[in-house]
Amino acid sequence: MAIVLLALLLFPFADAQWQVCGNTGNYTAASTYQANLGQLSASLPKKASSNTTLFATGTAGAVPDVVYALALCRGDINASACKDCVTTGFQDAQQLCAFSKEATVFYDSCLLSFSNGNFLSTTTNGGNLLLMNSQNFTESADFIRLFLFTLLNDTAESAVNSSRRFTTARMDISSMPTMYCAVQCTPDLTADECAACLQDFPQLTLQYLDGRRGGRVLGVRCNMRYEIYPFYQGDPTLRIISLAPAVPAIGNTTPGTNVTVYPQPPLPPPAAPPAAIIPSVPAQEQRGMLSSQNRAGANRIEENALVWRIEEKSSEFTLFDLSQLLEATENFAEENRLGQGGFGPVYKGQLSDGQEIAVKRLASHSGQGFTEFRNEVELIAKLQHTNLVRLLGCCIQGEEKILVYEYLPNKSLDFFIFDESQSSLLNWYKRRAIIEGVAQGLLYLHKHSRLRVVHRDLKASNILLDQDMNPKISDFGLARIFSSNDTEGSTKRVVGTYGYMSPEYASEGIYSVKSDVFSFGVLLLEILSAKRNSGFHRYGEFLNLLGYTWHLWEEGRWLDLVEASISKEMHEAEARRYINIALMCVQENADDRPTMSDVVAALNSESVVLPEPKHPAYFNLRVSKSVESAIVAETCSLNDVTITQDPQGR
Ligand SMILES: *[C@@H]1O[C@H](CO)[C@@H](O)[C@H](O)[C@H]1NC(C)=O
Ligand SMILES: *[C@@H]1O[C@H](CO)[C@@H](O)[C@H](O)[C@H]1NC(C)=O
Ligand SMILES: *[C@@H]1O[C@H](CO)[C@@H](O)[C@H](O)[C@H]1NC(C)=O
Ligand SMILES: *[C@@H]1O[C@H](CO)[C@@H](O)[C@H](O)[C@H]1NC(C)=O
Ligand SMILES: *[C@@H]1O[C@H](CO)[C@@H](O)[C@H](O)[C@H]1NC(C)=O
Ligand SMILES: *[C@@H]1O[C@H](CO)[C@@H](O)[C@H](O)[C@H]1NC(C)=O
Ligand SMILES: *[C@@H]1O[C@H](CO)[C@@H](O)[C@H](O)[C@H]1NC(C)=O
Ligand SMILES: *[C@@H]1O[C@H](CO)[C@@H](O)[C@H](O)[C@H]1NC(C)=O
Ligand SMILES: *[C@@H]1O[C@H](CO)[C@@H](O)[C@H](O)[C@H]1NC(C)=O
Repeated sequence: MAIVLLALLLFPFADAQWQVCGNTGNYTAASTYQANLGQLSASLPKKASSNTTLFATGTAGAVPDVVYALALCRGDINASACKDCVTTGFQDAQQLCAFSKEATVFYDSCLLSFSNGNFLSTTTNGGNLLLMNSQNFTESADFIRLFLFTLLNDTAESAVNSSRRFTTARMDISSMPTMYCAVQCTPDLTADECAACLQDFPQLTLQYLDGRRGGRVLGVRCNMRYEIYPFYQGDPTLRIISLAPAVPAIGNTTPGTNVTVYPQPPLPPPAAPPAAIIPSVPAQEQRGMLSSQNRAGANRIEENALVWRIEEKSSEFTLFDLSQLLEATENFAEENRLGQGGFGPVYKGQLSDGQEIAVKRLASHSGQGFTEFRNEVELIAKLQHTNLVRLLGCCIQGEEKILVYEYLPNKSLDFFIFDESQSSLLNWYKRRAIIEGVAQGLLYLHKHSRLRVVHRDLKASNILLDQDMNPKISDFGLARIFSSNDTEGSTKRVVGTYGYMSPEYASEGIYSVKSDVFSFGVLLLEILSAKRNSGFHRYGEFLNLLGYTWHLWEEGRWLDLVEASISKEMHEAEARRYINIALMCVQENADDRPTMSDVVAALNSESVVLPEPKHPAYFNLRVSKSVESAIVAETCSLNDVTITQDPQGR
């Protein structure tokens, strides 16, 4: 008797209940059946509320007076509210369905069902009660169908997957109201049973609640509700955001019309369903409801929806609201600005729970579509290493693309090493730890992360320091976002910072892990010498640190390169070894440079015999020869600014 039962009702009512009285017979006052029911009404509220899943079933008495009962509270409410709701359920049921042996009552926060038939052995709803808001969306019906289907389907899938069989969700769509949804199965169902119970919900909703600003599908085993306001407590477990094109409004509808009449489907033939729940849909409507055409249409619609879903409780990643970040940064206030990178300005912020964050507002020219951006950010979010700055989440809304990172209090490495008054705070032991940390972080990006990320803009200002002065590489992976198409490792668009760029990358746009190794070598020399490779420094007749270092290396004057304040703490052999490693990294020919694994091995072992480096790139740029090439000119004029430009002038 697999009749789909359906009733269409209008709501909202405050603290409303909806009851479905059965037709399996009546009991009489002071009967055994009533006593058994009383026994359950005394025990079940406590049993349900004391179980962490807020669910309980119970049986009282023996045939022919046996009573079966089931109580389920919405997953987000607390135990005392659950207990009150189920208690009220027993009271209401005995009033609203007086002397009926079977009754089901639904509330906002719980449901209670009892019967003289053993409905506990079934895992399907038997019948569904549909509730609908009298108000309609004013946006185009096609868009509503698209988003509603996506919201319901995703929330349902997540509920099926969750151990409690309960998920709350929130969906943000540009130019539409935010939608909220909750889906729940009784937690004793298997994932497959839960999925089967929910299977028709998206279709039922599209067909019967089409265009409504709120609706519910209620049943004993599974239920769903969506609204345009948050009706559940706490943060949603599933966040869905969408950057769909602006949703057009339907012409001619007057929002807020007080229409309260809704066509009721015809009453069902008088049949006795297992867990009776009001009228059914006639056969021809059932066919329409489940037509495969509908399904295919809905699938196609979803593929076109630009949606991003994050299950927050199962990941460390958050989708932030623009409003949240505006509040955290005081509308991107100038005084909260921490710096300006090539990819956009960075602001300090504080979330409402007190957590400090760094907010990077990406320049709009990233040239990426929503899907590419989402894919890249999801990949980057998975990169986790103690020497990488942690990506906490992001925000994408309209034109805004924002990344949210952990906030690190101690600024960046350049602040310490290039400032004489600060550099004394970093003795050699701290610098050595920083060098090792950066090498480990880079090795992870190159080798151990699943992505093989080439940073492409490693420099002192991208090395942030935590409260214990441990280094954390920032801005990793951004090159992927800004030019994710460069699978061949060659790009027309050079992203990076002059002075740190390997020659093959600066002049031909060819990059590889060896370009990062080059930048690491430059950084290593800067940490040792406390001098910038590029900039306004002059190194005798040499135009840059590389040429100067090579000159000292050839003359065996290793300690002369090292900053005076730390040279006391170093042995000559140690200075020689670090300079040797750095020079290996900055060799002109990329193939001659070591990999980061080689570098880490060399840093970790004093006994490893290092090969003699060949001369570095740019080593013979001398002041006397004046400006030799565009790169030299740029080297002198650009001071640690990440540039994104096309060297071929295209
Ligand atoms: C049960 O009682 C209701 C109302 O009191 C009545 O309408 C219904 O016919 C009764 N059902 C049976 C099976 O006796
Ligand atoms: C439980 O939730 C209700 C309704 O939200 C609230 O009024 C009550 O204070 C909560 N009780 C506890 C113990 O948290
Ligand atoms: C909402 O849409 C339904 C179906 O399209 C229509 O019958 C109903 O009158 C609309 N309600 C309002 C308040 O506009
Ligand atoms: C979600 O949609 C897909 C594709 O239409 C379907 O296979 C799946 O069963 C749906 N899941 C739920 C829980 O409705
Ligand atoms: C459900 O879980 C399975 C296995 O853990 C996973 O592959 C699938 O992507 C999950 N589905 C959703 C919608 O989260
Ligand atoms: C809670 O309910 C589940 C079934 O949903 C059951 O397996 C479990 O034993 C219950 N826990 C307690 C403490 O009663
Ligand atoms: C509802 O609509 C009817 C007919 O359009 C109108 O007479 C009535 O005043 C409206 N009521 C409210 C509360 O707006
Ligand atoms: C990637 O390259 C393809 C082919 O050159 C081009 O059609 C596409 O628009 C590019 N995508 C991005 C994000 O640049
Ligand atoms: C680093 O930050 C911590 C915590 O903010 C602070 O106590 C410490 O003085 C800072 N160290 C330096 C060298 O600025």
